[in-house]
Amino acid sequence: MHVPSLIAAKRDGAVLKHEEIHELIRLFTKGEIPDCQMSALAMAIYFRGMIAEETAALTEAMLHSGSMLRWPSNAPMRVDKHSTGGIGDKTSLIIAPLLACDGAWVPMISGRGLGITGGTLDKLESIPGFLTRLDESEIYRVIEKTGCVLIGQTEHICPADKKLYSLRDVTGTVPSIPLITASILSKKLAEGLNRLILDVKHGSGAFMRTHDEAEELAQSLVKTAQMLGLKVSVHLNAMNEPTGHAAGNALEVIEAIGCLQGKGPTDLEEICLNLAATVSISSRARLQTFLRDGSAWRKFQQIVEAQGGDVSKLDKLGQVHRAPVIRDVRADKSGVLHQMDAYQVGLAVLNLGGGRSRSSDSVDFAVGCDQIVKTGTKVAIGHVLARIHARSESAAEAAEQTIRRGITIE
Ligand code: URA
Repeated sequence: MHVPSLIAAKRDGAVLKHEEIHELIRLFTKGEIPDCQMSALAMAIYFRGMIAEETAALTEAMLHSGSMLRWPSNAPMRVDKHSTGGIGDKTSLIIAPLLACDGAWVPMISGRGLGITGGTLDKLESIPGFLTRLDESEIYRVIEKTGCVLIGQTEHICPADKKLYSLRDVTGTVPSIPLITASILSKKLAEGLNRLILDVKHGSGAFMRTHDEAEELAQSLVKTAQMLGLKVSVHLNAMNEPTGHAAGNALEVIEAIGCLQGKGPTDLEEICLNLAATVSISSRARLQTFLRDGSAWRKFQQIVEAQGGDVSKLDKLGQVHRAPVIRDVRADKSGVLHQMDAYQVGLAVLNLGGGRSRSSDSVDFAVGCDQIVKTGTKVAIGHVLARIHARSESAAEAAEQTIRRGITIE
């Protein structure tokens, strides 16, 4: 196979053949295609796109670059949720245990935060002891015990995606619909699922800024999943303001625990129930009961324990991760809060140290924002619109300025 000719063909808008795509990914995984060529191909795909058959072939090739989770024939139904990411989006922490409450298995492979969007693995690792890297035998042990496992991608699962994502990340080729589709679905197919619900976000705090772009991604995901035999549903959800009232790793876990205990907040509970009910065998009302009667909270504690986390620290996370500076952002006039821009909140959290600009960066679990007010709320002058948790006064000041750029009161 002559790789430069394939890159040139895609650059000129040609359709790559199924066998060519499989061979490209096979050689790339083995280290036989250099990063410069793969990056050039990703850029050609970014500009030229792919037809449905090419996207399906790419997804399948990435899936087969590694191993899949294998379930016994009598295993319960496997379900999962995947979100394209947003600000304050802690829904995975709630939906995974919630879905496991009715006996389904939830083998959730999640990602880390990158750019302004947070990641489930970083949030979970703010729980002392919690292990997100498990070997395959531990994955099966945890799921058999609890019905759920919350892990990161391993070297064995979709290694081609891991390699390709790190190139896309530094070559401006992340926001490509076929590349996003193949990246997300190859990992979800590797989980051996029966049903998947996809939460595709659109708005200032999402990859896809407009509803139309999100719709296009949703259609690509559904079509590709259908071609590869996975039953998926998609919800499009706005991400113009943060979900719930908190953004930042430990602060989001604290809020998620409240939601698992049936204490809301309303927007967070609503989105979790809407997504979970689409793939669950239980009704929405029954899922809500699991939040209210302590079942979902107990399930979360079981999962934390099974993955090495210190359950006794769950109700003390605010003390475990306490930022030295806490600053209120107050309304400078009275009126209705029209905008609390997710992008600006996400950027503030990233710059506080709660996110990462490069995948090798470490994250600060303690920093972020809480008490974020929802749009539509009437506020008086001096009303607290958000509370910043920072390492220093200067970091808090910079975060306040960033957040203020995204606030409109009228
Ligand atoms: N999430 C992924 O897993 N991959 C992408 O390409 C984008 C979001």
